[in-house]
Amino acid sequence: MSLSHIVIIGAGQAGANAILELRAHGYEGNLTLIGDEPHLPYERPPLSKEVILTPGSARVEILSAEKLEALKVTVITGNGAERIDPEAHLIELENGETIGYDKLLIATGGAPRRLPMLDRLEKQVYTLRNLEDARKLVTVFTAEKRIVLVGGGVIGLELASSASAKGCRVTVLEQESMVMKRCAPAALGEYLVGRHRAQGIDIRLATGVTRAEWQGEEIHLSLQDDQTLVADAVVYGIGIVPNVQLATTAGLEVDGAILIDKHCQSSHPDIYAAGDVAARRNGADRPRRIETWENANNQAAIFARHVLALEPPAARAPWFWTDQLGINVQFVGDMAAAQWHVRGDMAGPDTNSAFSLLGVSDGTVVAGITVNQPREMRNLKKMVDNRVCFQPETHLDTSRDLRKIV
Ligand code: FAD
Ligand code: APR
Repeated sequence: MSLSHIVIIGAGQAGANAILELRAHGYEGNLTLIGDEPHLPYERPPLSKEVILTPGSARVEILSAEKLEALKVTVITGNGAERIDPEAHLIELENGETIGYDKLLIATGGAPRRLPMLDRLEKQVYTLRNLEDARKLVTVFTAEKRIVLVGGGVIGLELASSASAKGCRVTVLEQESMVMKRCAPAALGEYLVGRHRAQGIDIRLATGVTRAEWQGEEIHLSLQDDQTLVADAVVYGIGIVPNVQLATTAGLEVDGAILIDKHCQSSHPDIYAAGDVAARRNGADRPRRIETWENANNQAAIFARHVLALEPPAARAPWFWTDQLGINVQFVGDMAAAQWHVRGDMAGPDTNSAFSLLGVSDGTVVAGITVNQPREMRNLKKMVDNRVCFQPETHLDTSRDLRKIV
């Protein structure tokens, strides 16, 4: 089939990067970007951080109107895709228009998992996924407000940090025995819990909300551990649900996420998926979905190169970061590593103390985490990519320069 029109559904991180990659690698045909939001593509990581902390100066734009015009992209905003007909190679939009394609990328991301018990409060209950959500939170997080955050994952802790910096009185409720369990080892979780508590943030583990109701001007929450809490507003971040509706109705193989192969190709050869919405098949293991900024960019690059019949980018260990309480944490590799070893002083006196964690499985360094030492991440990435044999005497001795060792 000739390749004269590539369409991308979803004007987010993966969608934007797919455009850049396609044009950078010489694709000169028609390119259409379909977005259901009213905005041009923007970054989500700042939404829980800079957009709340410094709303006046936070920058989120990925692709400006000028840049999109220079790249000759037809951009549709505020008019999402409703339906895909894979056999006819047609997309129907919300407003009834249809668009044809030769190759299609679905990059529709995910939506916050809902908690109906909290949604029933109707007012002063929030989730965070898009720019509008973040702008609402700017007005909610004002001094002395009692904010309860349900979910001690990435969103919960980043928002706890931002709300606390705005002078709110913050409580975090996490149902597991540790925070950030989906994506970080307990050793890091314990460290972060300690830091949040030292900042006056009340983190409660192994609990959740059993009842939520308005009493006058206050929200009253009953908890699993029989405690009660009073809040002015509740924000929850309990994970995302991939936006798979288009793929499901198009008959693509979906298992909670759109199933893709190593080229990001779905079960239909002309339809690809990338980013939070996609899960890569993994032999006999469960397909794996990765919810990070870097993965969205990487998979977009893999898609672009595959449709252009180019070599894929070099495989690298997955990387992501979080910023909380002024602490920068970066992660590389397999967060399910069997053991974790500390390099440096984890119990340093303040939030600026810096250290790393090395994750080891079967004697090999398979993961690394840097806390407040982003420069060290480059060395940890090398160790993980090269599957370095773990040598505690050298690797954990901070007088030895990791850069020289690797
Ligand atoms: P998105 O960026 O969500 O883009 C999907 C787009 O598709 C959206 O605009 C959506 O509205 C649109 N869409 C959905 N359905 C349709 C349709 N039918 N038609 C048209 N358009 C549609 N990652 C990190 O690594 N580090 C961080 O610090 C970090 N912080 C984050 C903070 C927040 C608040 C959030 C929400 C995410 C954060 N992430 C972070 C995760 C990272 O931003 C995501 O993994 C990344 O945005 C995923 O990209 P995506 O393109 O798959 O989805
Ligand atoms: N009560 C309390 N905690 C809960 C409940 C509940 N009912 N349900 C789930 N949780 C907890 C989980 O145990 C987990 O620790 O909520 C946390 C959700 O954490 P994440 O999976 O990290 O999801 P979230 O923080 O919502 O982030 C969603 O945004 O920042 C991005 O990359 C991030 O893609 C992720 C997305």
